[in-house]
Amino acid sequence: MSSIAPTLPLNDNHTIPAIGYGTGHLTDDNAPDLVPFALECGYRLLDTAARYDNEVGVGRGVRESSVDRAEIMVTTKLRGSQHGSETARQALEVSLSRLGLDYVDLYLIHWPLPRIDKYVESWETMIAMRDEGLIRSIGTSNFNPDHIDRLERETGVLPAVNQIERHLEWPQAQKCEYQAERGIVTQAWSPLRLAGPVLDSSTVTSIGGQHGVNPGQVALRWHIQSGVVPIPHSTNRDRIAANFDVFTFELSDDEMASLATLDSGDRLGGDPLTHEEF
Ligand SMILES: NC(=O)c1ccc[n+]([C@@H]2O[C@H](COP(=O)([O-])OP(=O)(O)OC[C@H]3O[C@@H](n4cnc5c(N)ncnc54)[C@H](OP(=O)(O)O)[C@@H]3O)[C@@H](O)[C@H]2O)c1
Repeated sequence: MSSIAPTLPLNDNHTIPAIGYGTGHLTDDNAPDLVPFALECGYRLLDTAARYDNEVGVGRGVRESSVDRAEIMVTTKLRGSQHGSETARQALEVSLSRLGLDYVDLYLIHWPLPRIDKYVESWETMIAMRDEGLIRSIGTSNFNPDHIDRLERETGVLPAVNQIERHLEWPQAQKCEYQAERGIVTQAWSPLRLAGPVLDSSTVTSIGGQHGVNPGQVALRWHIQSGVVPIPHSTNRDRIAANFDVFTFELSDDEMASLATLDSGDRLGGDPLTHEEF
């Protein structure tokens, strides 16, 4: 359990760990304790965002951890209010300064905000900042295939990652397939559906019973066997450790098929076509 996760290839010749630690609800106060703990458990991928207002704490956790910074894939995101050519550059500079790092491994556009229509110019700046060494890999979050097609058409550069809402009730199979065909790794946010009732369903609990694991571990293993990178969040040390302990059992084809029947279309977050957050 203390070994590190396997990795998946990215379309830019880098790699990404098969599971990450989501820091969405951490604060600058608890991140400096919990981030090093997650790294001790074996996580090597961290997910934060300018909008989470915890980059200072997450960066402190990275710097104070006994794990080499070079082994850790640090992700942060461009918030809506900073879309644009020059503003995207300023936003990354502020994030790097808050994190106390001189580069990030993965920088994502948090939401496409099609009404504002500045995601392509933001992307052009991100390509330039990647080429300058400030970012290792660039990607998107909550982008639909149409948004990704436009990035490719106008810049020739596909995202390495698209991070989307994905859980047993909203598996977004078609979107994952579209992304896989283009070598874009799908990351799943709210991979446990915020510990929602689906984890108590008999389908999930009976599969967990077969393997001697808890329902959250079943859900995380389902993502991993779907080729998707989940980024579960927890502030509870036992659950942080257990959520990483998903590489010692395998779900059968029948179990994967019964988990697929839990798709209820019930999403938690907004529609990328209309959702706006700044
Ligand atoms: N790109 C985006 O727009 C976007 C949107 C939302 C989230 N995210 C990212 O995705 C990460 C994860 O998403 P999320 O935090 O919304 O949802 P999540 O990981 O699905 O659920 C987290 C919740 O589940 C509980 N939990 C954790 N492990 C559990 C387990 N094994 N069994 C039962 N309950 C468990 C946690 O409580 P305890 O703390 O008590 O364990 C917490 O309340 C965020 O931290 C953030 O980094 C990105």
